[in-house]
Amino acid sequence: MDLLVHEIGTLVTPLGEGARAGAAQGQLQTLKDAYLVIQDGKVVEVGSGSPPAFSGPSLSAQGKLVTPGLVDPHTHAVFAGSRVEEFLARTRGQRYTGGGILTTVAAVRQANQRELVELARPRLRRMLEEGTTTVEIKSGYGLTPEDELKMLSAIRELGQTTPLTVVPTFLGAHAFPAELSRQEYLDLVVEEMLPQVAGLAEFCDVFCDQGFYTPEEARRVLEAAKRLGLAPKLHADELAPVGAAELAAALGAISADHLLHISQAGIEAMARAGVVAVLLPGTAFVLAEPYPPARALIEAGVPVALGTDFNPGSCPISSLPLVMSLAVLKLGLTPEETLCAATLNAAAALNRAHELGSLEPGKLGDLVIWDANFLGELPYFIGHRLSLAVVKAGEVVWRASGV
Ligand code: NIG
Ligand code: FE
Repeated sequence: MDLLVHEIGTLVTPLGEGARAGAAQGQLQTLKDAYLVIQDGKVVEVGSGSPPAFSGPSLSAQGKLVTPGLVDPHTHAVFAGSRVEEFLARTRGQRYTGGGILTTVAAVRQANQRELVELARPRLRRMLEEGTTTVEIKSGYGLTPEDELKMLSAIRELGQTTPLTVVPTFLGAHAFPAELSRQEYLDLVVEEMLPQVAGLAEFCDVFCDQGFYTPEEARRVLEAAKRLGLAPKLHADELAPVGAAELAAALGAISADHLLHISQAGIEAMARAGVVAVLLPGTAFVLAEPYPPARALIEAGVPVALGTDFNPGSCPISSLPLVMSLAVLKLGLTPEETLCAATLNAAAALNRAHELGSLEPGKLGDLVIWDANFLGELPYFIGHRLSLAVVKAGEVVWRASGV
């Protein structure tokens, strides 16, 4: 699609084809009185002042703020069933242990692919309306070869039938199903599931934490995944410091996610290995847990990304703008670091920083027009839906009424 976006009051974007770390994470390009030209879905020109003559369709930003489309690099948006009871039990003092994952597993096993897709479709719609144009979705609520394949097929179908770029991750090693021993299930994941999902998933994730997969078990799964061409990711040190961040560095994982309880050694190892830290402050907020050490990560030179972790158990938040507010309020990130975390660095956590996550020639024409005049207003208006229009690959895929 071709599109000219003009009358942009302020255009803010990170620049580059890889994650931005340290001081560079907060250094963005800001253009006033800007325009942007998209041809065949890709950005071809960004500038200030009067736009060039353009014969295709145009969209006025009405003097407002424009940023790249948001990238959510960690969700579990495909699920069935309800965990409202578990949520309410926590408000009465019960602790989150991850045990509720098996409640969702039971419901997902009952659902067919079509039902999973139709349950997820309005969730993705809502995310799109909030500005998310790329979303990663994990399997991990099937825990049998058939049910994991069903989830990954549903994830693929969502990518084909919604405007969003949908990135699939295999998370067979999410929990242990009741019907098999630990060893039997691990063998099943490595020997049967991984070869079958290799064509459907891009990444392999493991929940490496207290009560779940040990670092040794996670290493076995992720090394097998790597041999099949799946890039490793980790749910790391969410519940306790088990050394999962160190493992992510040793394996050359693309990202280590959560990190509420990351050790100092884990921070240093991630910085050396260039692993992206995907922080999910919505989960810490919902579970009333301590927030991850975002400033220490940035100061150590670890590129920080932000995701929602949208899932039915630990984080029913699907709004990346709300998570960006939490990043500024609770993680101590600046609005600039936050925008980079939810765009270019999130794209890097999905191996897509070369094609999206910033607004510059060659990148996909994914952008949001916000009802804001400058960047600081995004995290400030907590829980407001500030998006006015969302553009995906040069196509206006959503606009607020009256725009
Ligand atoms: O990222 N930590 C493991 N998995 C999810 C929660 C899944 C669930 O409770 O259903 C998470 O928090
Ligand atoms: Fe998660």
